Amino acid sequence: MRQFISAADVSDINALADKALAFKKDPWKSEALGHHKRIGCLFLNPSMRTRLSTQVAARQLGMECIIFNITSEGWALEFEDEAIMSGNTVEHVRDAAPVLARYFDILAIRTFPGLKNREEDYSELYINQFIRFAGIPVLSLESSTLHPLQSLTDIITIRECIHENPELVRRRPRIVLTWAPHVKPLPQCVANSFAQWVNAWGAADFVITHPEDYELDEQFTRGATIIHDQDEALKDADFVYVKNWSTFRDYGKIYCNDPGWMLTGEKLAHTRQAKVMHCLPVRRNVELSDEILDGSNSIITQQASNRVWAAQAVLSEMLEAMTITKR
Ligand code: CP
Repeated sequence: MRQFISAADVSDINALADKALAFKKDPWKSEALGHHKRIGCLFLNPSMRTRLSTQVAARQLGMECIIFNITSEGWALEFEDEAIMSGNTVEHVRDAAPVLARYFDILAIRTFPGLKNREEDYSELYINQFIRFAGIPVLSLESSTLHPLQSLTDIITIRECIHENPELVRRRPRIVLTWAPHVKPLPQCVANSFAQWVNAWGAADFVITHPEDYELDEQFTRGATIIHDQDEALKDADFVYVKNWSTFRDYGKIYCNDPGWMLTGEKLAHTRQAKVMHCLPVRRNVELSDEILDGSNSIITQQASNRVWAAQAVLSEMLEAMTITKR
């Protein structure tokens, strides 16, 4: 695996999930794989789970992991080609990326969208410029439109739950992605990415529910059933993934912010005792109620803990690809 920025970079999602679960059983089994290898994790935005799970995963593969919080510690980067850099940006990615490529074997990057200009965000300029100018394997720690490490984790967690439930092994599970209220406009990344991965995985009946005006980009949702009535969508769900996102069409806005869209115990009663998922961080009693977060249907901590195994599976694939290239 040369890069990991989307589901399209994975040829067999089940095989990658199996690999992750093998690491969960035996975290140190490939400790020699990353010997004398170094990953640089560049953060243009905050993180807890992505940063720490990647560090833990790298360590368990015997790699050194160096974190660089560019926004607070580095020079302000320019990404536009032919920019006249007379403003606030100090260093062009064209100059910085090749230097970083000399320090690291893998470059990992977190870069959120600006939510001002849809074309710019959806062009994935920042991560694509790093790929273009670094010339070494690049791992997304969440980009403008996608969060692949989160989505791989989500599939791993769903598969774990399926294997623990004989009824779900026999039939296709119903997975519902539901929009939830929030106090500020959030990126569409997690929802886009979850839709892309569940569609690519293809082993579930997949429903997305949101108020009108919150349609996601069809390139990611194609294959899912879209239902605007949340109660109808939740009926018979086996998994409910809760997430807020801002508008895609009239980009980056909050339209309806109806608190009635928050998932409650009463709504969950219409599901098949659905497992509840969220990528975290979560705004309690805005996005999700205390009763759900602290209740027995929540698998959110299990989901977050699986971030380590997802990162370890992906890093091991990248390291193995380097070894093959060198032979
Ligand atoms: N879910 C997730 O990406 O968490 P962090 O923003 O804390 O990394």
